[in-house]
Amino acid sequence: MELVGVQKTLSPVLKAKALDNRLPAPILGDAYAEQTMRRLDPGYDRGRFGASQVGLAAVVRAKALDDWVRGFLADHREAVVLNLGCGLDARVYRIDPPTTVDWYDLDHPPVIELRRQFLPPRGHCTLIGSDVTDLTWLESVPRGRPVLVIAEGLVPYLTAADARLLLTSVVDAFPTGQLLFDTVSVSACRASKWDPLGRRYNAQFHCGFDDPAALADWHPRLEYVDEAPMNDSPVLMAKAPAGVRRLYRLMNLLPGFRRSSRILRFRF
Ligand SMILES: C[S@@+](CC[C@H](N)C(=O)[O-])C[C@H]1O[C@@H](n2cnc3c(N)ncnc32)[C@H](O)[C@@H]1O
Repeated sequence: MELVGVQKTLSPVLKAKALDNRLPAPILGDAYAEQTMRRLDPGYDRGRFGASQVGLAAVVRAKALDDWVRGFLADHREAVVLNLGCGLDARVYRIDPPTTVDWYDLDHPPVIELRRQFLPPRGHCTLIGSDVTDLTWLESVPRGRPVLVIAEGLVPYLTAADARLLLTSVVDAFPTGQLLFDTVSVSACRASKWDPLGRRYNAQFHCGFDDPAALADWHPRLEYVDEAPMNDSPVLMAKAPAGVRRLYRLMNLLPGFRRSSRILRFRF
């Protein structure tokens, strides 16, 4: 099955994770990303290696989310995990949750088809091929247990109305849990119209927030917890190659760049 539109956005993120794994001291260290990227695009590393590592901020995001996931699962060994817009990311293999955890990886059907081809099956991990905004998928997931929702690189591609309905529906469906996701700023959302990669994939952002902590107002049970740094992350500054660090230092001087992407944690 061929990927179309927003489904293609999984590839630059996967490429960043693959390139990270080849650094002497990787940020994420995901061998699956390298193997999967090679199968998706055997010549993915033919271009200028240094320049393509600009995507390392997305790797920082994956690492921050992984750390939160590990923390949550240490306290909730009977949790249900909903990894929404999973792409070809190998989080379930990186985290290796106990068998008491039920994990769901959801993405559009062609992406799930690719996952089946590229990544091995795993007990207690169910693949759901669906548009995340068609909430009938939520009926196939067990209720009554703590839930962890991870939406990495997904929310900006939804409309604000769809994102709100998705997140509030999850809160309504479970007794307790956490929501981990990233958002972009209003100006980053507007600018995405001109982003060459987005134009090439015909995949633009549809929602942006300058005060994402206020999304807690979407549901009376929802509470903002905290944010993890991304574009100015100490991990990025410590581990990225010198050229990439210099570039981020410069870009972080631009008004609005540092907080153009935010990694957020909410609980209920
Ligand atoms: C930028 S990629 C991120 C992939 C993965 N989470 C990662 O970080 O490697 C965005 C993913 O969200 C998926 N996606 C976007 N809109 C979606 C929707 N409405 N329903 C299901 N998946 C969606 C795309 O197909 C794509 O795989």
